[in-house]
Amino acid sequence: MQTNSWVPLFPDQASTFAWQVDLLYAYLIIVSIAFTIPIVAAIFYFGLRYREKEKYATPDEMHGSIALETVWSIIPFVISMTIFLGGAYVYYNQFRIPDDPAMEVYVVGKQWMWKLQHETGQREINELHVPVGRKVKLTMTTEDVLHDFSIPAFRTKTDVVPGRYTYLWFEATKPGKYHLFCAEYCGLNHSGMGGFVYVMEQSDFDNWLSGNVSGQTPVEQGRDLFENKLGCASCHAGGPQQRGAKLEGIFGKEIKLVGGGTVVANEEYIRNSILNPSSQVVEGFQPIMPTFKGQVTEEQLLGLVAYIKSLSGVTGTTSSSGIAGATQAQSNSASNSTQAPRADRGNANTKGSNPNAPAANSNR
Ligand code: CUA
Repeated sequence: MQTNSWVPLFPDQASTFAWQVDLLYAYLIIVSIAFTIPIVAAIFYFGLRYREKEKYATPDEMHGSIALETVWSIIPFVISMTIFLGGAYVYYNQFRIPDDPAMEVYVVGKQWMWKLQHETGQREINELHVPVGRKVKLTMTTEDVLHDFSIPAFRTKTDVVPGRYTYLWFEATKPGKYHLFCAEYCGLNHSGMGGFVYVMEQSDFDNWLSGNVSGQTPVEQGRDLFENKLGCASCHAGGPQQRGAKLEGIFGKEIKLVGGGTVVANEEYIRNSILNPSSQVVEGFQPIMPTFKGQVTEEQLLGLVAYIKSLSGVTGTTSSSGIAGATQAQSNSASNSTQAPRADRGNANTKGSNPNAPAANSNR
């Protein structure tokens, strides 16, 4: 990995927000230098200029100066506000996950490795291949302790927390091989818990993707669990007479809960509804669902989440026709649901799989 940014100490700038972080950092350094040098110089100057010349000297008293006080209030105010606004802008950019990522990757951390899975099913360990110029969203969790997914060249990192999902996104700007680290001390081999992110041209990425055994996609894995292994479909297959809440089209929507609250149906909510079903019961339903805690692994949970998202048409471009087609075929062959939700499911997936839509949105 070569380092050719303007300060040789810094790693490559390889994401859309890398330059913003560096600019903010440079500004902080400049402000620090601008204060440190005059203060140190003043210490020496005053030490010499006003050194003790006679015992018990009494200096002239000073009674305030509007001009001076105004200046030393306004300058620090402007400096601190520009730091605050710059920081808020960069933070907002980095930690508001885009609604229209071109690609999603599921990440599970464990002592001491990163396990990643693409929407198209390909699995990677300690390596992540992504296309250049596309918004990539990571949905992350861990099987054991706290980890932190960190890519210095992208100037981004996010804690990976047991028992919940955290998210990270980036848009790589330069093909290359970049370090991936765990940035949270997680035990003996923490320092070895890392690898590389490979940023590739879209065509190279497509080649890479097609050259790898994909196996089940997360959506297929989730559907298998949903319909067969866990039997979720016996209550949640859709249709008016179901004991379980409707899952088609809910993703990203606000859900009314028993007791009057609302919650946005995101990945975290779906996860919580599987593990702690009685904690957020949808209005109009009974808290009869059993918990699946201890019966599903983190990777299976991510599959279920991916499947339930797909019922709302939420899939990225790289998964395009394959997954959507499969899901549609599956829903058409589903036996015990009524016509209406089946049609919804098919339409939603057709819309989500439009390969042109996210491409048009990927220019920032
Ligand atoms: Cu995982 Cu440090």
